[in-house]
Amino acid sequence: MPKPSQPLIRVIAIDGPVASGKTVVGRELAARLGWRMLDTGIMYRALTWYALREGIELEDHVKLAETARAVTIEIGAPPSDGLETASILIDSEDATAHLREPQVEASVSSVAAVPGVRLQMVAQQREQAKRGALVMVGRDIGTVVVPDAALKIYLTASVDARAERRAREMHAHGRDIPLAIVHDEIVRRDGRDANRDASPLLVAAGAIELDTTDLDRDAVIQAVIDLVRKHAPELLS
Ligand code: DC
Repeated sequence: MPKPSQPLIRVIAIDGPVASGKTVVGRELAARLGWRMLDTGIMYRALTWYALREGIELEDHVKLAETARAVTIEIGAPPSDGLETASILIDSEDATAHLREPQVEASVSSVAAVPGVRLQMVAQQREQAKRGALVMVGRDIGTVVVPDAALKIYLTASVDARAERRAREMHAHGRDIPLAIVHDEIVRRDGRDANRDASPLLVAAGAIELDTTDLDRDAVIQAVIDLVRKHAPELLS
C-alpha cells in the first residue's frame, strides 16, 4: 500500500489463478468506478495465437521474444458479443475471436513463461497503468507490473469451484468439455503459472486475499467493493 506522502497510483491490481473470478470482478469494478479495465491475459493469448499462426516453434524462446518485441498490440473496445472484455489487434490483425481456441488454450502458459515475452508485455502494461484509472487483471500485476498500485487483491478459490466456473465459461464460448478434463487442465495450468521461473504466480506483498469458493458472482463483486471502501476509500471519491 502506498504511504500517504506518495502519489496515489490509480490502479487496482487483481491477480489470481485461472477461473478465480478475476475477469468478472475486474470488469464490474471498472464499470462501477468508471475506470478502464485491462485483462492482461488477452495479450499473452493474442501473442500465442500469432506465434502459432506464424509457425513459430514454441520452444524457440529467442524467436518468441523477438516476435513479442516486433509486433504492435492494440487494445480496443469490447466486441459486440460481449464475450471478451476488449478486442485486441496484433500487427493490425484482429485476434479477438481466436483467444479461446483450443490450441491457444493449450500453449499460452508456455508462451507466458518466456522471460523475453514477459518483458515486452509488462512494458506495454506499465504504459497503460501510467494513464491511471485502471483495473488491471492478471497473474503478476501486484508483484511485477504495478507493485505500487493503490489496492492489490489476490483472488483464490478451490480447484473444484474453479473447474465448474471454467466449464460454464467455455460453454458460453461454445465449447462443451467434460468437467474432469477442465479440472485436470486447471491443475496443469496452476502448476505451470506457479512454478515458472519468470514472475511466477504469487500473492504480492500488501495484497489482500479473498477466497471466492463459496461466493457467487454478486457476492464476490460486493466483497471486492467492500475491500475498496475499507482499504482505498479515496478511489471511490
Ligand atoms: O488469465 P488467462 O487465462 O487469460 O491467462 C492466459 C495465460 O497467460 C495463463 O497461462 C497465465 C498467463 N498470464 C500471465 O502469465 N501473466 C498475466 N499478467 C496474465 C496472464
